[in-house]
Amino acid sequence: MIDLRSDTVTRPTAPMLAAMSAAEVGDDVLGDDLTVLRLQATLAERTGKEAGLFFPSGTQSNLAALMAHWARGDEYIVGRQLAHTYKYEGGGAAVLGSIQPQPLENAVDGSIPLEKIAAAIKPIGDHFARTRLLALENTIGGKVLPAHYVADATQLARERGLAIHLDGARVFNAAVASGEPCWSAAAR
Ligand SMILES: Cc1ncc(COP(=O)(O)O)c(C=O)c1O
Repeated sequence: MIDLRSDTVTRPTAPMLAAMSAAEVGDDVLGDDLTVLRLQATLAERTGKEAGLFFPSGTQSNLAALMAHWARGDEYIVGRQLAHTYKYEGGGAAVLGSIQPQPLENAVDGSIPLEKIAAAIKPIGDHFARTRLLALENTIGGKVLPAHYVADATQLARERGLAIHLDGARVFNAAVASGEPCWSAAAR
């Protein structure tokens, strides 16, 4: 049994510790941290993305990714009772990023129903925050979002001019459990 509640409760195995202590390290700014470079390249290759970028924590990577998508006065749609980027992380998106969340009820399967997303996108106008981003998470509350849901949500977001962020803290677990690359439509 592997306890996946948090990376703070899983423990590295002996081969993982051995790999860590034998890892080639260097200066990231000088571009000679070979292990990090390999990690980033491997991630980009496996997920079909242009590039990978290593962050030391999930909170930091979520915040940096979300902030890359918006400007002050923007808004992101996010799951209300389950999403890490809303429920946890100290409200960093609002506090540090100057964007407001628009939290929507997660369905029992963890998804945010598409019709709710569509209805929540604000009209363009001086009175309104600009709805710019849909933030998903996979797995969410221990459940795998199916690839077809991620693809449909991505299509809806693109049609309505929203960017997509995927909190993929456990996305490889989701991929193994479902047998599908359930990040593929979501992270660009
Ligand atoms: C889904 C999800 N996103 C983000 C985080 C934050 O990661 P970190 O604790 O590395 O900041 C966690 C932590 O458990 C998480 O479960």
